Amino acid sequence: MRLRSIVIGAVIALVFIALGGIAWTWRSAIAPISAGGAAINDHQIISRGADLAAIGGCGTCHTADAGKPLAGGLPLPTPFGTIFSTNITPDAETGIGTWSEAAFQRSMREGVDREGRHLYPAFPYDHFTRATDDDIRAVYAFLMSQPAIRNVAPSDDLVFPLNFRPLVAGWKVLFLDRGPLQPDASKSAEWNRGQYLADGLGHCGACHTPRNDLGAEKKDSVFAGGSAEGWDAPALDAAAAPKWTANQLTEYLATGWHPSHGAAAGPMADVVNNLKHASAADVRAIAIYIASFSSQSESVTAPARENRIPTASAETVALYNGSCAQCHREANDVGPSKALPLSRSSSLRRAAPTNTVRVVLSGIQAYRGAGGPYMPAFDGMLSDQQIAAVVDYARARHTNQPPWVGIQDEITKARQGVAQ
Ligand code: HEC
Ligand code: HEC
Ligand code: HEC
Repeated sequence: MRLRSIVIGAVIALVFIALGGIAWTWRSAIAPISAGGAAINDHQIISRGADLAAIGGCGTCHTADAGKPLAGGLPLPTPFGTIFSTNITPDAETGIGTWSEAAFQRSMREGVDREGRHLYPAFPYDHFTRATDDDIRAVYAFLMSQPAIRNVAPSDDLVFPLNFRPLVAGWKVLFLDRGPLQPDASKSAEWNRGQYLADGLGHCGACHTPRNDLGAEKKDSVFAGGSAEGWDAPALDAAAAPKWTANQLTEYLATGWHPSHGAAAGPMADVVNNLKHASAADVRAIAIYIASFSSQSESVTAPARENRIPTASAETVALYNGSCAQCHREANDVGPSKALPLSRSSSLRRAAPTNTVRVVLSGIQAYRGAGGPYMPAFDGMLSDQQIAAVVDYARARHTNQPPWVGIQDEITKARQGVAQ
């Protein structure tokens, strides 16, 4: 209910802004080109574009069916309803095969499609606009070199009247700061490279920065913690706990795991997998930039905590010992599959059970085969009641935090794939 009234208030404001905005931000169609006419046959540009597209997560959001890469149709749950990603293969009818490079550049900078329609910022063009013309061109060259796949994305399911696209014009007037990023001369070249990748194509803030009621990132709370696909994306600024050093971040971003921070799970696992396409120097640059927000100069491990006395049934204790304890050991060492003692878990200490519930349901499989962290998905193995009991018990056993309320609701939401 609360969300609805905020949305309605926000929407009335938006309608007015949009009326002005439409006048300001009207965009005309860019003439179609003939399919195949856009090929940039420079192998070097295409392969750089492939790496940049990976850093930008294009394939993660634009692929619903692994057999149809980049052909769109992935549902993205947002607080305003569900938006589906579109087909960005060079198919002339259902993809972007008739888009000239100019039309593509405009979509990445201004969030407008070839025909001049405003696109929703679920497509993170508020970040992509920071990329250079050359980098956007390389991504275009890569996309146009991919197989054309026919696929029509389902229609969006947004709350009225956000399903009226011209409203997005108003949003842009308020929140879209267009154009490539300007380097900060007072910072090192590495830091600037990191900022370019993290704030631009990497769009780290899209998940890690909180958003206002109109769904725009709060400019005064960069990296203060946000959300993504129902998961909490933790703070990366001074409030990060435990704080990060550049070395720790480099290892975490490169491998998906760090002994004092654990593994990248959920949407972050995709990010880390995509970063395999970035050079080691670029991953380090991102780490240096991000670490400058939490500014921890030396390595820390989470302090040991006194736990509450758990009041669980013998059944729950047995379930925990049988399902969890063989990997998550009590002693301060790394268990099988790179599992850490849960007393070090930041998810278990958070105010809400959001991430713990999701990691137990979906596990961590992203690094399988690469010798990385592995945790099985318990969604098919345990009932909702068992998961709720074991999560409640794990929190009591390994932290001094008060019991969570609403674990059961969170499990239901996670199973339904609902955001917020
Ligand atoms: C967080 C998810 C997400 C990521 C990451 C993402 N997109 Fe998208 N993109 C979307 C969504 C959702 C839409 C549809 C927006 C709409 O319908 O208004 C979209 C639309 C587009 C469009 C407009 C297509 C059309 O037919 O109108 C283009 C072009 C595009 N994206 C390119 C890219 C490229 C290139 C990348 C990587 C650099 C990328 N996207 C990364 C979610 C994403
Ligand atoms: C699609 C959303 C999304 C994007 C984009 C994203 N993250 Fe994350 N990130 C998350 C989520 C969700 C988590 C929490 C899950 C976890 O800890 O495994 C997370 C966790 C992290 C953590 C661990 C935080 C902690 O305290 O445990 C770091 C560090 C991090 N992200 C850095 C980055 C950087 C750097 C980028 C950009 C290159 C980035 N993230 C982009 C969603 C995202
Ligand atoms: C096969 C080994 C394995 C089993 C079994 C297992 N886990 Fe994990 N779990 C991992 C690994 C590996 C990670 C990632 C590294 C880390 O944070 O410990 C992880 C991460 C977690 C996290 C996130 C920690 C954080 O803050 O990032 C939680 C919470 C968790 N596991 C709880 C459980 C619970 C509860 C069970 C039993 C129902 C369980 N695990 C069973 C291997 C396992």
